[in-house]
Amino acid sequence: MIEILLNLQLLAPFFLFFIFPVFFFFFLTSSCPTKRSITIPKPYPLIGHYLDLKGIGNRRIQWLSDIVKISPATTFTLHRPLGRRQVITGNPATVAHILKTRFSNYQKGYTFIHTLSDFLGTGIFNADGNTWKFQRQVASHEFNTKSLRKFVEHVVDVELSDRLVPVLASAAAQDKTLDFQDILQRFAFDNICKIAFGYDPEYLTPSAERSKFAVAYEEATEISSKRFREPLPLVWKIKRVLNIGSEKKLRIAVKEVHEFAKNIVREKKKELKEKESLESVDMLSRFLSSGHSDEEFVKDIVISFILAGKDTTSAALTWFFWLLSKNPRVEKEVLKEIMEKSESPVYDEVKEMVYIHASLCESMRLYPPVPMDTKEAADDDVLPDGTVVKKGTLVTYHVYAMGRMESIWGEDWAEFKPERWLEKLQTGKWNFVGRDSFTYPVFQAGPRICLGKEMAFMQMQRLVAGILRRFTVVPVLTPGAEPHLISFLSSLMEGGFPVKIVDREASSSN
Ligand code: HEM
Repeated sequence: MIEILLNLQLLAPFFLFFIFPVFFFFFLTSSCPTKRSITIPKPYPLIGHYLDLKGIGNRRIQWLSDIVKISPATTFTLHRPLGRRQVITGNPATVAHILKTRFSNYQKGYTFIHTLSDFLGTGIFNADGNTWKFQRQVASHEFNTKSLRKFVEHVVDVELSDRLVPVLASAAAQDKTLDFQDILQRFAFDNICKIAFGYDPEYLTPSAERSKFAVAYEEATEISSKRFREPLPLVWKIKRVLNIGSEKKLRIAVKEVHEFAKNIVREKKKELKEKESLESVDMLSRFLSSGHSDEEFVKDIVISFILAGKDTTSAALTWFFWLLSKNPRVEKEVLKEIMEKSESPVYDEVKEMVYIHASLCESMRLYPPVPMDTKEAADDDVLPDGTVVKKGTLVTYHVYAMGRMESIWGEDWAEFKPERWLEKLQTGKWNFVGRDSFTYPVFQAGPRICLGKEMAFMQMQRLVAGILRRFTVVPVLTPGAEPHLISFLSSLMEGGFPVKIVDREASSSN
């Protein structure tokens, strides 16, 4: 109650003096409010595009994508209330400018870092400058080791065979409807926790009590990301000071996550001291073994890894299975490739699954796990198309829009066509043909490109092969209905992804 009153109290003068007058002006001047074709919206004094954004609700990604596509040089300036500007671009040359050429000028920035700092501290995902650089160096070294790759392979295979396949087999036997998005998120969470700090939250085990860590992590992610949605950041800041409502919940959840992570760090440090080496080979053990023993440093970096790897692969896979169900021709090709490989494919065989690799790239083109990504200008600048950027301006590259541009992908951009990533060799085999990362910035690009890209593909390919070898995933959606992509820190299928699981063997013997 106090929270609602506080919100109203803070927003009342804003509404009285700015919103209401403009609101009436808007209705008096708009000719046909019910049928709006996409045009570049005009900003209003003081409130900028606030009313448009409010009216668009959960379709912000799609609406901005439509506008970016028709804007000159595919770059649009969004006017936020009280004069704040956000440049949104779908232009590969501009993306290269902000992510590579002028990298040092386009950082995460104060707003982003401050909003997530209670949860993420100064972990790699939430750091700039030297703090970021040092973590990047330490982490890249570990990410590139063969032994980590082997460990990840093992973790994924165990989670797949001991948890995911039994869950799906049981759903198939009982003809149960599952929320596949939820299942994939749980799968990814178990995996990334085991990889990051050697802890198994057993999130996918139906009978197990939900780990307090998993619940707290989910809550901390959700509330932290909702801070970005407050019309005025002052609202969450005051709630935080008063320790009420969502901010009170966040404080409790963050404490739980941090304490849990610190305990694991302490246990491992103790073991390292006693035995002089660690048996475990997860990321945390590697950092400690190589001399990085500062508790806050390793805790923050591990918490950032979990966030980076938690919902991204599950988002990619949710949309992949949806697109596959709509494209039987592609599904047939994918299956053909899987059946040509052994049942437990070794690393090299997974690498050879080029058609699956291309299909995953193609589904992330249409439904990127991180649909928009924002930087903040540290200084004044001019973008390659002439757009003037003032210090403090937010600059966003719109990955979702870029994946749907005719100028980049051709007239058939709307088709799910893995072949656009492939060429046929004389031997009859497929060869993967990549695109440059500024045209396809699904994993970002430049010095801060995703560290887990290779790991993510390996996980996703193994999961796709492991599931489709045995089951068919059949969406339970109203015929003709198209699910919607929404996004907080990463993308989601709105309302979940209800599916039935069909056992291939059982259905073919019927
Ligand atoms: C399909 C899956 C994935 C996609 C699409 C993806 C995409 C991205 C994107 C767009 C960023 C840049 C975020 C930003 O700086 O604003 C990023 C950063 C990062 N990703 Fe991924 N990611 C995926 C999976 C993973 C996995 C499995 C890991 C493993 C831990 C991971 C680790 C990281 C890390 C550590 C960073 C921060 C890099 C830095 O700031 O230097 N990612 N990823």
